[in-house]
Amino acid sequence: MSQDFLPLNGTDHVELYVSNAKQAAYFYQSAFGFEPVAYKGLNNGFQDFESYVVQQDKVRLVLTSPLKGGTAIGKHVDTHGDGVKNIALWVDDAEKAFQETVNRGAEPDFLPMELSDAFGTVKLAGIKLYGDTSHVFVERKNYSGAFLPGYIPIRAKGPVHPVGFKYIDHMVANVDWGQMNTWVEFYAKVMGFTQLISFDDKDISTEYTALMSKVMSNGNGRIKFPINEPAEGKKRSQVEEYLMFYGGSGVQHIALATDDIIETVGELQRRGIDFLTVPSTYYEDLIERVGHIDEEINILAKLGILVDRDEDGYLLQIFSQPLQSRPTLFFEIIQRKGATSFGKGNFKALFEAIEREQMVRGTL
Ligand code: FE2
Repeated sequence: MSQDFLPLNGTDHVELYVSNAKQAAYFYQSAFGFEPVAYKGLNNGFQDFESYVVQQDKVRLVLTSPLKGGTAIGKHVDTHGDGVKNIALWVDDAEKAFQETVNRGAEPDFLPMELSDAFGTVKLAGIKLYGDTSHVFVERKNYSGAFLPGYIPIRAKGPVHPVGFKYIDHMVANVDWGQMNTWVEFYAKVMGFTQLISFDDKDISTEYTALMSKVMSNGNGRIKFPINEPAEGKKRSQVEEYLMFYGGSGVQHIALATDDIIETVGELQRRGIDFLTVPSTYYEDLIERVGHIDEEINILAKLGILVDRDEDGYLLQIFSQPLQSRPTLFFEIIQRKGATSFGKGNFKALFEAIEREQMVRGTL
């Protein structure tokens, strides 16, 4: 087996450009239990933009807003609404990650750079992805600060109640018509990923809409990026709706792993987080479809949690409503009980659920 030329330790963080980072940080804190850990902005001498870093176990989000007009960040927010700008990957050697990927055809976003403060040095480099999205390589082995040089540590003003998010299980891209294979090839050639599975429009379609999807995984399997593109259907699919409102390709959802999805989702619903609902008929023949599971069906039905089985085990999952005004980015909550796949058996029920939402939004 050839050596992994791009060893990735995991997802370092996900940076969202948002219209109001201060309020977004409080939303992710109060609604989802993320702890504010670091800050950069007016309060420590930066006048162009402001970033709040919030964290829950290994999931770290950076929420960034411009502090004045006419900035690239402001333009991003204007075009896309709130959304993911950078998927930052934790590496041991940022310069090497940059060179290896650029040599294989990646377009540089920014050249390798060093940032230092009293806590040490971080090396960063960026390459471009689909749409306006980028990968940032983060080398932090010589750094002990709160997040990155320039950031100061902060603490929550009020209590923070985590909901059990452990790590990012996968992150899904929606790309434009005919672009799926371009980005599958990018991950294969430029990043050294391999393809786990592929779904075509026959696997993922309803009476009205369809999409295609391929799942790419890195060498050690810690990073997984499914890539969707729309397929022809009678009506406008959820991927087309996303592309229309996001203004092109971008990150559709971030799947967060939990060890107790019933507890996590129950708590989120008590906090007023809305999820996609499936009809009660979904649960009527659930056991026939997935076999024995540890959880009580009536509890899953009450919360709207979906179940799917593959040859390795089963998984439980649920999808939130969009996290911002535009019907674009959302969270998936997932608990794996052996299963390594992505809930193919749920696609049809799910897409019909999304179509019902689209109907209400008038965007089907
Ligand atoms: Fe997913």
